[in-house]
Amino acid sequence: MTIKELQNKIIELKKEKDVCLLVHAYQDHEIVEVADFVGDSYGLSLKAKEAPQKNVVMCGVRFMAETVKVLSPEKRVFIANENALCPMADQMDREQVETLREQYPDYTIVAYINTTSELKTAVDVCVTSSSAVEIIKNIKNDKILFIPDCNLGSWVQKQIPEKEFVFYHGGCPTHLRITKRDVERARQMHPNAEVLVHPECLEEVTNEADYAGSTTGIMNYAKKSEKKEFIIGTENSIVDHLQYECPGKMFYPLSKECVCHNMRATTLMDVYNTINGVGGKEIFIDDEVRQKAKNCIDKMIELGG
Ligand code: 13P
Ligand code: SF4
Repeated sequence: MTIKELQNKIIELKKEKDVCLLVHAYQDHEIVEVADFVGDSYGLSLKAKEAPQKNVVMCGVRFMAETVKVLSPEKRVFIANENALCPMADQMDREQVETLREQYPDYTIVAYINTTSELKTAVDVCVTSSSAVEIIKNIKNDKILFIPDCNLGSWVQKQIPEKEFVFYHGGCPTHLRITKRDVERARQMHPNAEVLVHPECLEEVTNEADYAGSTTGIMNYAKKSEKKEFIIGTENSIVDHLQYECPGKMFYPLSKECVCHNMRATTLMDVYNTINGVGGKEIFIDDEVRQKAKNCIDKMIELGG
């Protein structure tokens, strides 16, 4: 079967089985082409709430599918590849958060959405890279305990200097591979290009960038900019998507190492098999965990505007 034939079968099956296909921006182009919605973590959370279909298939990593299930318990939610896990989501557990709560009783605990539902039961609000600054500005408390990604945390802190932050030492193993030396080298090779990075990058990298933002933020910036060349500091699928969408511009990866094998694990065949009921994995979350985890996701949507 060709890719086109498989895509056509997926489109037919989605209708027949009442499936909404949610796709994170890091997925392969052939999956993006059959999506009902493509976006960053924040966009996917909002779409999950609105989708009219009874079934949702998530092409991304597990915490994204869990977020959909937390927000829409009445839907059947599937992850298209059960091995697609975000390593950052396993860097902290609920018990560690409870210990921090005892150590910092007057701090608001803010968790990156790249965490498990179980951990979310113990925090006050969660954020995504595109919503973190606005949400933390809107929190009444000036004392913020930010977990688990200290790089995203310090990028947020720079934009809200009036608040006091405490960080955990977590981070994204994929984005951590990019160094300041990569930025210097890339700028030498492409002196007219702008450097666009994800705030999961090291502080030494975001400090050197022309723009830092979520996956959707980076894509929108590059599409709207008058510039013709861009160096992209995030998962390298974004380089391919931008090159496809903006053929008149040039896109270069900041580092060839910035590949997330979890995000890339999902194939078009996985999508087909999941919708067809012979693959993927259905997400189940204990009802008490779900109700408690929902509080901090609802708070994110309320404060994120
Ligand atoms: P976005 O919110 O930018 O989609 O980030 C999610 C993620 O896992 C990036 O590594
Ligand atoms: Fe997790 Fe990093 Fe992969 Fe995003 S790129 S899913 S944060 S490991």
